[in-house]
Amino acid sequence: MELRLFIDFEGIDKSGKATQASLLRDWLIGRGFKVEVISFPDYTTEIGLEIKAFLSGLKQYSPEVRQLLYAANRWERKSLIESWLMDGKIVIADRYTPSGLAYGYANGLPLEWMICIERGLPQPDVVIVLDISPETSLKRSKGRVDRYESDLKFLENVRSSYKSLAEKFGWYIIDGERAPSEVFNDVINIISKYLSITR
Ligand code: TMP
Repeated sequence: MELRLFIDFEGIDKSGKATQASLLRDWLIGRGFKVEVISFPDYTTEIGLEIKAFLSGLKQYSPEVRQLLYAANRWERKSLIESWLMDGKIVIADRYTPSGLAYGYANGLPLEWMICIERGLPQPDVVIVLDISPETSLKRSKGRVDRYESDLKFLENVRSSYKSLAEKFGWYIIDGERAPSEVFNDVINIISKYLSITR
């Protein structure tokens, strides 16, 4: 069966992206699909290390430079993702271009410019935004903060960016405040449509 499926989980920090990505991977593998999971930022690359440096406050960059580094980090992984898709694997991303757009938009960067630097990258077929409040995000991070998590107002802006971009680009939004199993039911309902299989 010819299948090209690239799924991306999105949302503000601690919205449950990694949990849902892992549940979905296991669910798909259990149904005989070959699956790869990738997370962005990918901190293992040269540019990923640079991203780590500014997120931990070791380096300072303007919003534009940070945006370019996040995008370049995706370009570093372009051929890997393409090779997986060519092999008929389902690719699940924990953050991808939509994170760039939502966080960049909240930083006041122009949408057309951000889209431009992502053009040519493999784009997801399905984007699922796990929607939680900034308060839930901070509560779930239990004191672990990075530069964004420390800023409730910023997270609120990112959340509304996700909402308006979801409407513009046809991304799904799911209530991420619920238990992981309930959230996952919604995820399966969405993904099943793309797989044309019944549960
Ligand atoms: P992480 O906590 O999921 O590893 O992501 C680190 C931070 O980077 C998170 O606050 C979201 C932000 N980010 C962007 O601003 N743009 C991007 O393109 C990506 C992938 C992440």
